[in-house]
Amino acid sequence: MLNNTYSEEIKLVAKPGEIPFAKGLEGVPVGESTKSFVDGLGGKLVYHGHPIEELCEKSTYEEVFYLLLNDQLPKESELRDLTRLMRSYREIPGDIYDLISKQAPRYGVHPMSVLRTAVSALASYDETTEEDSPSEQRRQGIRIVSKIATITAAIARARQGKPILSPRPDLTHAGNFYYMLTGNTPDNFYARLMDVLLILHADHECNASTFSMVVVRSTLSDLYSCVVAGIGALKGPLHGGANEEVMRMLQAIGSLDNVEKFLDDAMSQRLRISGFGHRVYKTMDPRAAILREHAREVTRRAGTEHWLETAERIEKIMAEKYGQRGIWPNVDFFSGVVMASMGIEPPMFTPMFAVGRSAGWVSHIIEQGNDNRIFRPRFIYVGPEDESYQPIRDRK
Ligand SMILES: CC(C)(COP(=O)(O)OP(=O)(O)OC[C@H]1O[C@@H](n2cnc3c(N)ncnc32)[C@H](O)[C@@H]1OP(=O)(O)O)[C@@H](O)C(=O)NCCC(=O)NCCS
Repeated sequence: MLNNTYSEEIKLVAKPGEIPFAKGLEGVPVGESTKSFVDGLGGKLVYHGHPIEELCEKSTYEEVFYLLLNDQLPKESELRDLTRLMRSYREIPGDIYDLISKQAPRYGVHPMSVLRTAVSALASYDETTEEDSPSEQRRQGIRIVSKIATITAAIARARQGKPILSPRPDLTHAGNFYYMLTGNTPDNFYARLMDVLLILHADHECNASTFSMVVVRSTLSDLYSCVVAGIGALKGPLHGGANEEVMRMLQAIGSLDNVEKFLDDAMSQRLRISGFGHRVYKTMDPRAAILREHAREVTRRAGTEHWLETAERIEKIMAEKYGQRGIWPNVDFFSGVVMASMGIEPPMFTPMFAVGRSAGWVSHIIEQGNDNRIFRPRFIYVGPEDESYQPIRDRK
């Protein structure tokens, strides 16, 4: 068990300076987990002991979901059962298709907002939402992971005024997602690429969205409420929203000759370069390295090599000039190039991230229930004391 060594008195009446304060909870453990581990100096990510590189090469999203949910790789029959269940849960209620069709094409509405609303609405169509047993929670989790892909694809299609496609039970989770997004049955290359994208995003320890979810779960709120909170956190440009910003940056830079000046200008104004930097990795994020390799073939097929060239030029200059400060590419840097080359429009990048991350989210939410204590940290109060109450007419 983790231990808090401060005295009761300090815990109850903490004042500035009495408890060391880590802004943004940097380096502060908030619980124990068996799901994933990030080695920020070595640049490694493992899911329950399995290196991400090996999972991307040999595994599937369904298998990784099983691993995260159950803390072990499945036997054949176990994987078959999970796959069957996921396929049976893919469809979403007609009302939610209607909601998506109305909201997604509206001007200025971000697809993450539509995703958040649609997942929230799903709770009303699940009769077990208020049931808290581990077995019901697992079923709800599997439903969410299956349906979030259908919702996301429907949002993508509705935004573009294209007919929404029903899920196909004959395809894998990744293959069906690709089909529902693009209308094309994927060949082996695109089915595998989608699997890799989803696996790479499936979990990442105590990131902001997962932490938001376990905080909500710690109050014993339901699984859907937790996921809605996480989607809200993922939307922000400092978290999942960075992939969309990367594509904007590549478009703004335009040509290779502009890269160095663009970066120098941005860094001298202390602006953030999207897709760079990380709270834990102080070296290359291993997910970025994997995505860069996959970007080669998909950009060649799509004729979008110029995006990869620009991205690699940015990577090179950033490494030469700022690598020693620990600012290296993170997962979002190359994922935008890969997704754009698959024909996915930039506002959909963060919802795509959510589809992958849903496996980790539900696994952490369920894990939180195994040894729960409500999250209730402190703010260090730095406001005034003993203020006198002025009648409103006397206030200046
Ligand atoms: C991910 C991120 C939010 C982590 O933030 P953090 O751990 O609080 O890091 P800090 O803000 O303390 O940054 C530490 C230093 O590196 C700099 N830095 C961090 N990320 C940077 C970036 N992307 N571009 C330029 N400088 C960056 C900061 O300016 C700061 O410099 P300083 O010490 O001179 O003030 C941050 O790196 C960032 O904003 N990146 C861009 C958004 C992004 O890609 N997010 C996706 C994450 S997977």
